[in-house]
Amino acid sequence: MTTVERPRVLGTGTDRVDGPRKAAGGVPYSSDVSYPGMVHAALVRSTIAAGRIAGIDTSRAEAAPGVLAVITPDNAPRIERAPDTPLWRQPPPPLQRREIVHHGQYVGVVVAETVEEATAAARLVGVAYEPTDPVLSLDDPRAVTVDDPFGSNRHRGDVVSGFAAADVVFDGEYTTPDETNNPMGLFCTVAAWDGDRLTVHDATQWPGSTRAALAGAFSVPEAGIRVLAPYVGGGFGAGLRVWPHTVLAAMAARVVGRPVKLALTRPQMFTGVGHRPATVQRIRIGARDDGTLTAIEHESVQPVAVDDDNIAESVTTVSAVGYACPNVANIDRQRRLNIPVPTSMRGPGDAQGHFALECAMDELAYRLGIDPVELRLRNYADEHPQLGLPWSSKAQRECYEVGAERFGWWDRNPAPRSMRRDGVLVGWGMAGVSFFWFQAPCDARASIDREGRAFVRSAATDIGTGTYTVMTQLSADRLGLRPDQVRVGLGDTDLPAAPPQGGSGMTASLGSAIHAAAQNLVQAFLDLVADDVASPLRGLTAADVTAVDGRIQRDDDPTRGESYREILDRHDRAELSADGSSVPAKPEETGLAPAGPFAARFVEVHVDPDLDRIKVARLVSVVDAGRILNRKTARSQIVGGTVGGIGMALLEETVTDPTGRIANATLGDYLIPVNADVPDLDVVFVGEPDRFNPVGVKGVGEIGLVGVAPAIANAAFHATGHRVRSLPLTLDKLL
Ligand code: MOS
Repeated sequence: MTTVERPRVLGTGTDRVDGPRKAAGGVPYSSDVSYPGMVHAALVRSTIAAGRIAGIDTSRAEAAPGVLAVITPDNAPRIERAPDTPLWRQPPPPLQRREIVHHGQYVGVVVAETVEEATAAARLVGVAYEPTDPVLSLDDPRAVTVDDPFGSNRHRGDVVSGFAAADVVFDGEYTTPDETNNPMGLFCTVAAWDGDRLTVHDATQWPGSTRAALAGAFSVPEAGIRVLAPYVGGGFGAGLRVWPHTVLAAMAARVVGRPVKLALTRPQMFTGVGHRPATVQRIRIGARDDGTLTAIEHESVQPVAVDDDNIAESVTTVSAVGYACPNVANIDRQRRLNIPVPTSMRGPGDAQGHFALECAMDELAYRLGIDPVELRLRNYADEHPQLGLPWSSKAQRECYEVGAERFGWWDRNPAPRSMRRDGVLVGWGMAGVSFFWFQAPCDARASIDREGRAFVRSAATDIGTGTYTVMTQLSADRLGLRPDQVRVGLGDTDLPAAPPQGGSGMTASLGSAIHAAAQNLVQAFLDLVADDVASPLRGLTAADVTAVDGRIQRDDDPTRGESYREILDRHDRAELSADGSSVPAKPEETGLAPAGPFAARFVEVHVDPDLDRIKVARLVSVVDAGRILNRKTARSQIVGGTVGGIGMALLEETVTDPTGRIANATLGDYLIPVNADVPDLDVVFVGEPDRFNPVGVKGVGEIGLVGVAPAIANAAFHATGHRVRSLPLTLDKLL
């Protein structure tokens, strides 16, 4: 076997292939799509949180200029609740009943010639309600409890004897608020029927699920529905599910017999596309004097909707896998409230769970008089604590060591309020991050044409994460082409099936499918020349050759080979195609525990001693995400996530008033970081290619956010001596 020098396309900081077109406004988001004869829909939302509709007066709206239809529960076509997908439940079908279960629930949709006419007429729909007293608090005895909602509760060892064996037991309660995803792109659906065939342009992270939901709702075959989402203006989890407005756009288009566009407003984005649920967490950690953990008990309760579910939000699992502790109980619960249904938001569950665990570890470190990095290293989980198997990859030790070094951590005086500079209190804090692993079955198809150009495609989406770019690089690497010879097609259900862009799993899922498709495509070329006496490749299999420089060459003699073009020319074929599929590997088969990414974060905050204003001054993130396909897009993911983490730490909170109305549902009132809140961010990648997928990658999408808030809270304690156990860390809590 000869070592082949391949042109290096993986790991470099290749620019985004879609960057110039995006910057020039040249890519179609769903809100940019237009059809001849297209009309516009506007939503009417409930102004109570619980009760029922007593009556609806649509006469003024129907008489308003341009109005084509006013659809309410009184006249809406009957539709079904779509069957659940393998990963997700579909939402209850909208406008099918008069019962109100949350503020902002859709009670009508108005269709008119223009968006202005639809919006104006929507205000004229008169709805009379019979309100009841909404259940809005986790403490409300009327709230129904859902035990173990994620099937993730675990009891390992025996926490009672673990706590009995401890020299120190820390016990604390931490809370995190509701937060709202707020992608920049307002969600929008364009729906056009042609008989029983439906084309939908949607802002979604998962076109396949949108297709399944619409097929179920309207009782039409999935094959007759095409969902397009080639570009999405961000999601952060809000686009994982199919939401009622997407179903309503299709319903409205069917009612008026014209293509319909339905774009949400920013306030509607707060009630209609999910949010991160608040948590109340109690965590107890027992340790010996030398820092060895003897027991962890971590309980969390979070809200969920009355009539809908949020199924991927385990807050406490991190406590079962983050450290080598023999006795662990992790217990998640939900309570049903009259609220819009929460859903995943960047780093679901882990974002909240790390806040409690990593703050508690800091508090424990102070009790024990042990450095927080040292405490984490003493309890380092060399193997997966729950599965008892070696990790498929784990370089978190390096994360701690490299991060401490770059930050200058070992110069820290641990005493609170001991460090000052230029009149401000200086605090240094850190946190470890053990993010979950996720991968799902995925298909892809690859073709090479007579020009030697490849077309690689899948129904997967790029929600701004860089999927087009890294898949172009990966395809080029596996097919031996230059990136400019590869075109990647995404976001179309007519393409091979793909899972959601979510759980930081797309690069592993789609990358592995493309890896397989490329291998199968090389094999397809070899099959074509299997009996070809003119070919130096005849009789070989993909294992005997390497694709490089637009050609396939023999590993036993790299001077012998031929180009894709030569093979296609000689056999008079326009192109060759091959499919590839990936399914996640299994621990039983590999003997490995699948590892998500790991990280360590080190933060310096400055606190004004008079005003208690916290400013993040420096932030070092060291991340083990396996093989990095593109240093630039991967760094961008970590930077973007970290900005979200700063928001979670200091600013973000969705406020619900006592009537169940969200009181700050605009970007003027819901605070997120601006440039002045964000220092230069130092991002370093460490680690080896992961062994659980053939591409060697782990996710970089969400870990950027996780662990930022506890690191900042720990730094704020170091600066001020005040321990704040409740996010966001607003200055009133530091007083
Ligand atoms: Mo992410 S919250 O899985 O889109």
